[in-house]
Amino acid sequence: MPSEKPKFYLTTPIYYTNGLPHIGHTYTTVVADAIRRYKRMRGYEVVMTTGTDEHGVNVERAAQKAGIPESEYVAKMAVAWRALWDELGIAADEFIRTTDLRHVRTVQWLFKLFKENGYVYKGQYTGQYCIYDNAFVNDAKPGDNCPDCGRPLETITEENYFFKLSAFQKPLLDFYKKNPTFIQPETRKNEIISFVEGGLKDLSITRTTLRWGIPVPGEEPHVFYVWFDALTAYLSAVGGPEYEKRGMWPADLHLVGKDIIRFHTVYWPAFLMAAMLPVPKQVWAHGWFLMDATKMSKSKGNVVLPRPIANMLGMDAMRYFLLREVVFGQDGNFSYDALVTRYNSDLANGLGNLASRTAAMIEKNFGGKIPKSGPRLPQDDALAKVASEAIGEALERFEKFEFARSLEAIWSAIAAADKYLTSEQPWAMSDSEADMQRKATILWTTAELLRVVTVLAHPVLPDTTKKVWTLLGQPGTVCGVELDGLSWEH
Ligand code: MSP
Repeated sequence: MPSEKPKFYLTTPIYYTNGLPHIGHTYTTVVADAIRRYKRMRGYEVVMTTGTDEHGVNVERAAQKAGIPESEYVAKMAVAWRALWDELGIAADEFIRTTDLRHVRTVQWLFKLFKENGYVYKGQYTGQYCIYDNAFVNDAKPGDNCPDCGRPLETITEENYFFKLSAFQKPLLDFYKKNPTFIQPETRKNEIISFVEGGLKDLSITRTTLRWGIPVPGEEPHVFYVWFDALTAYLSAVGGPEYEKRGMWPADLHLVGKDIIRFHTVYWPAFLMAAMLPVPKQVWAHGWFLMDATKMSKSKGNVVLPRPIANMLGMDAMRYFLLREVVFGQDGNFSYDALVTRYNSDLANGLGNLASRTAAMIEKNFGGKIPKSGPRLPQDDALAKVASEAIGEALERFEKFEFARSLEAIWSAIAAADKYLTSEQPWAMSDSEADMQRKATILWTTAELLRVVTVLAHPVLPDTTKKVWTLLGQPGTVCGVELDGLSWEH
């Protein structure tokens, strides 16, 4: 039976397989996973796609270096990426590899639609090409370095199929106007609009200089340009040519780093328009995680790896840090000191301590079952008010992808509960009937606050919140709670 639920389809970029994930890749993927969990708790049927970008010169070279065929190399790498995502609690619904048959079919189908609709032609192309970024650099001269990665460009001449990107200047500008929230955040939007206003050159979308790619049917040795290949993966993952059956296309949200926004907001919608397919609803560009104010890179040797952090502090600590520490959309600095401080103050001493203290007192005084509240005093109601406000604030902020603010609201409720316990001192009370009744109210109130914050924090801290849920003996599962109905229960 078809689901009645509203649908939500979101994606991470598909990652290059010539290396392993670092904290930058982890960031996008954790954000996507948190949104996926959140949307589910808001009643959506959600599909989240991540995957691997497996073609291109870099992979060809990496495989050569490893002394194995490309197909074997990428298979190994895809397994490694998947395994790490599993360890970090990433619950992607689709993992697309660009060597998957379902993807190859989709790329070839899309190209056929371009041809049928008159948007491709053959031509000669000479340009300055960055083999690391897999992109020709417009306006570069021979001998220039790549403006993105700083490495030397190579002059390449070849016969290509060209995509008539120039025909899409007006349709794109009209599209941005009609869909003002397509590009987020706002500052990026202005950047893209002026880029498109500056004029669009046709784009070569096949290569003859490259061997490791998806063949253009009947046109060997042409293979598809990696960015055309890669972007199409979003569609391949949810049905490709039969996308209508799954009902997930167009995507609701593509999450990307600011370095790849042009591919997603100019090329990708133009490709889809040329094929007369629906265009995604939103592209959200986040900033970079920097190390000492520069972008991390293998060549600089300043790459932060996620696995040791997760092994040491738990996957939730890393997830929390990534979402709490930077404003989504802006660059942020990575620092181990900040990570450990956050872990200690917010997770171990904050949520962890409140949950274990409360559970221990419920165990000791009420045999492990949350007691019913007795008569309420103003300070009990004041805490209820704090929690109710935190629900509104946290959800409103999360909805706008203001993750740091959302978590801040949740943690201010935790801090208020800490203060409440410190001033009420239930541990200092006797076992007299009056004191037991007061203790029941205090512990009920604290447990209720914990229930609320646990639900709110679940998308970011899936592991910890499950543990707290069980510790407090709450019924059902925390991920099964519907956020729309979340309120303080009297
Ligand atoms: N394969 C392409 C994407 C194709 S999507 C159709 C690609 N891959 S990548 O592995 O190089 O990068 C993927 C994502 O990781 C990009 O969104 C990029 O912004 C992000 N990050 C890489 N380093 C990063 C940081 N240091 N900080 C935050 N994100 C960064 O590009």
